[in-house]
Amino acid sequence: MSNESINWDKLGFDYIKTDQRYLSHWRDGAWDEGTLTEDNQLHISEGSTALHYGQQCFEGLKAYRCKDGSVNLFRPDQNALRMARSCDRVLMPAVSTEQFIDACRQVVKANDRFIPPYGSGGALYLRPFVIGVGDNIGVRTAPEFIFSVFAIPVGAYFKGGMKPHNFLISGYDRAAPSGTGAAKVGGNYAASLMPGAEAKKQGFADCIYLDPQTHSKIEEVGSANFFGITANNEFVTPKSPSVLPGITRLSLLELAQSRLGLTVVEGEVHIDQLDRFVEAGACGTAAVITPIGGIQYKGKMHVFHSEQEVGPVTKRLYAELTGIQTGDIEGPEGWVVKVD
Ligand code: PLP
Ligand code: COI
Repeated sequence: MSNESINWDKLGFDYIKTDQRYLSHWRDGAWDEGTLTEDNQLHISEGSTALHYGQQCFEGLKAYRCKDGSVNLFRPDQNALRMARSCDRVLMPAVSTEQFIDACRQVVKANDRFIPPYGSGGALYLRPFVIGVGDNIGVRTAPEFIFSVFAIPVGAYFKGGMKPHNFLISGYDRAAPSGTGAAKVGGNYAASLMPGAEAKKQGFADCIYLDPQTHSKIEEVGSANFFGITANNEFVTPKSPSVLPGITRLSLLELAQSRLGLTVVEGEVHIDQLDRFVEAGACGTAAVITPIGGIQYKGKMHVFHSEQEVGPVTKRLYAELTGIQTGDIEGPEGWVVKVD
């Protein structure tokens, strides 16, 4: 695809084949140094554990075009660390932080023409992943692995972006209490496909999962973390071993405290105590900050700030986060990594 045909202001979250992707193989106990390739097809054994037993994991991070034309990565070290934890959880060899960041840099540079312009609201989404490959049939770890990173220009994940969206509380679970919820593995997302589709069919942006043990506390959206703002200026986000530890969530916890002066709480968010929140949102790399207008639970809609207007604290958090990502606002030390 030529980038002249991309309408930067209208980008959603759809696959576009870009120029180059990074590919590295793990064989005989080590990752090779990796190469860039134009080929977007993988040729793998039919016995690959990734295909049968879900032995794989992935990441998501973005590269942002700044006002001066330079390009920022946002906290790639955190994605590298999370991917290493995900690899550990499903018995795959971790990629070092150095190799992970180097791969991301190479892919961003090689696809420079696909980075949405500063001010468009878009970014270049990077999708690193590790899969178990090679001839195999038993339920065991793979003999070989592939680490790859590809890139896609994206806009808003939830249609309309920074406007309130309604979510449906799901009766299904995406993860088990001591399962793989905290790892970014495909199985969690496979489990979320049907509940997510049902929510969307009913007109909701997505569904929200409750804790798998008691179904009484909010955990997260299938593709983003949850946060709420209380009337006494608390930023509250669920703490649970089955929630994905999001990097946006982690960053907002810090910014809410240091830049907005909010009290931050990682704790329980009981579904029957939503009245304590004056605003709520979903946060993640793809979702950025998506304001939550209302949540439907057992047939009843609970509206937070408004179904039309974004709340003031959510607006300030959004401005601070995206300002840091695009280089307009100085971020905490080490958050922004230049691609050069
Ligand atoms: N929760 C789930 C299930 C996700 O898929 C994501 C997205 O990566 C998040 C939370 C947010 O994580 P992050 O902010 O690191 O993108
Ligand atoms: C992300 O925000 O990077 C995600 O992985 C969410 C979704 C696209 C699965």
